[in-house]
Amino acid sequence: DLEDQHPELVTPDSPTQRVGGRPLKEFASVQHLKPMMSLDNTYDLDELREFDKRVRKILDTDDTGYVLEPKVDGVSLNLLYEDGILVRAATRGDGTTGDDITANAKTIRAIPLRLTMDSPPARIEIRGEVFMSIEGFRKLNEQREKAGESLFANPRNSTAGSLKLLDPSIVAKRPLDAVFYAVGAAEGVAFDTHHEEIQFLEKAGLPVPALWWQCEGIDEVIEKAQELAEKEQELPYEIDGAVIKVDDLSTWDTLGTTAKAPRYAIAYKYSHEQAETVIRDITVQVGRTGTLTPVAELEPVFLDGSTISRATLHNEEEIKRKDIRIGDTVIIEKAGQVIPAVVEVVQNKRPDGASPFNLKEHLGGACPVCGGPISRDPEFVAWRCDNISCPAQLKRAIRHFVSRKAMDIEGLGDVLVDQLVDQNLAKDLADLYSLSAEQLEKLERMGRKSSDNVIQALEESKSRELWRLIHGLGIPHVGEGAARKLAAAYPSLDTLRGADKEALEDVEDIGAIMADAIHEFFNNEKNAELIQRLRAAGLRMEDEPQNHADDADQDNPFFGKTVVVTGTLSSYTRDEIQDVLRSLGAHPAGSVSKKTDFLIAGEKAGSKRKKAEQLGVTILDEKAFREKAEQGG
Ligand code: IVH
Repeated sequence: DLEDQHPELVTPDSPTQRVGGRPLKEFASVQHLKPMMSLDNTYDLDELREFDKRVRKILDTDDTGYVLEPKVDGVSLNLLYEDGILVRAATRGDGTTGDDITANAKTIRAIPLRLTMDSPPARIEIRGEVFMSIEGFRKLNEQREKAGESLFANPRNSTAGSLKLLDPSIVAKRPLDAVFYAVGAAEGVAFDTHHEEIQFLEKAGLPVPALWWQCEGIDEVIEKAQELAEKEQELPYEIDGAVIKVDDLSTWDTLGTTAKAPRYAIAYKYSHEQAETVIRDITVQVGRTGTLTPVAELEPVFLDGSTISRATLHNEEEIKRKDIRIGDTVIIEKAGQVIPAVVEVVQNKRPDGASPFNLKEHLGGACPVCGGPISRDPEFVAWRCDNISCPAQLKRAIRHFVSRKAMDIEGLGDVLVDQLVDQNLAKDLADLYSLSAEQLEKLERMGRKSSDNVIQALEESKSRELWRLIHGLGIPHVGEGAARKLAAAYPSLDTLRGADKEALEDVEDIGAIMADAIHEFFNNEKNAELIQRLRAAGLRMEDEPQNHADDADQDNPFFGKTVVVTGTLSSYTRDEIQDVLRSLGAHPAGSVSKKTDFLIAGEKAGSKRKKAEQLGVTILDEKAFREKAEQGG
């Protein structure tokens, strides 16, 4: 009523504007500010690894950060906001030009007519997907059936149909929803990383996927792709897989595009093909942390292009929930997993005498790899092997110990580690240091030269900084960052071992759970023995004074300062510059805040630079940084 009396007060984001105007004759064509590309896709984990290899090769780097998010099975949409106001919504069309469906998009309540931020960018394209909830789809089809109208095949199909309607008042009655995952063209805002884009969208009031992850490398990507497949049901829309994107936007141009898709991203699609087969037996695998995972041994069956003979059963709870028994006929499905999962039991095909599965009884109470005792972790519904020297765990522990972010011992690859453990040459971490080149030379794929190199690398590792050893020991919950903080607070392993829980909690970033884990780790007799053996092997267990930040030259301008690095630097990797900063006694930080003293900005610095400017933080380019650092010696 007010708007009728005062038409001058009608704003573009007024709720009355959601369902506006008369039916259209046809949709106008509009050009996207930036083309909407397609995605390359694969159903195959090996191809996903190939993708990562290609990325790392082009970027000439050992590790790449990724973001993994759902591949939403909807209809893609490109929104355009100017000064925070929704001015246009377009379908993807041929990727360059689409239909202007602004009136239809405005009827979707999930799409804000105005961005919820104080100083919105001048212009921004926001990309996502319109979908219909499975529940909404069911109701819509019910109504249509009653009305004698034709039925939609699936939610995606009904979404596409709804968006094509020329009368927005009918679209408004369709249960449409939307979710957004990308930024197209942007003016007045810049981002360094894809995860910052998602965070921005969320802050701007747009719905973003409830599940998405930043991943450190391809192994974590694969882990999260499987987690997403398992949690698929938690999402209100159908997904057909995961999208993996290189996080660092400054690399996207370098990566380039293929004919129709960018090389910075790939879709890993979940196949939902199913097959029926029989469970011959249930075996138990010992995982990376000692977790016991039951696996169904199947009557081989063809599924999705390959013959399947095993399916994961996740854990005992899952077996109970689905009441899976040896001898059962089951339906299996791949759905993104490396090995397929059992969807359900075909109850009427259960053989007589099949009894409920009990993991502990089945194993006779012992770890199937080492025969050691097992126990149940009440929180994680899983059984675990308690023996820290269990070969399955030992392999994992050694891999971690020698890794680049721990003791950084080159040449000790997975194949070699497996052989060392399998041939009893390494029964714990300390055994690595009594290996001889002669022993190594006898192993597969090892020549004289590579054997010598490994021995040399082991020798060099004995004097690594303390944080590397702390990290390498594999204390539960203690990652690289925590290890560095611990070494800074306790520059000798002996004083760290002697610290009580309260003292540990006083260390920056160390919480109660970590403090508990650290305390427990050092109070375990076997671990104490291990440390003793490492010491006897000649490992240095304290930091030399010059390695310690407190002893850095206090006159240098970075001493005690908080420094953020952004953009691409020409003569340092991220890890390198952080090491340099630490050696100067500075604290490297991830994001710019009032507490930041310096921002080192490389090529293509984006939002962090802007923020630093706003906050008046001193910004240094690479050259200025070097000069300033040299000033302080
Ligand atoms: S990114 C070039 N992220 O998949 C990057 N697209 O097959 C393409 N899609 O047209 C956009 N979920 O409609 C991206 N998380 C997601 C997505 C996603 C679904 C759709 C999108 C795109 C199509 C390409």
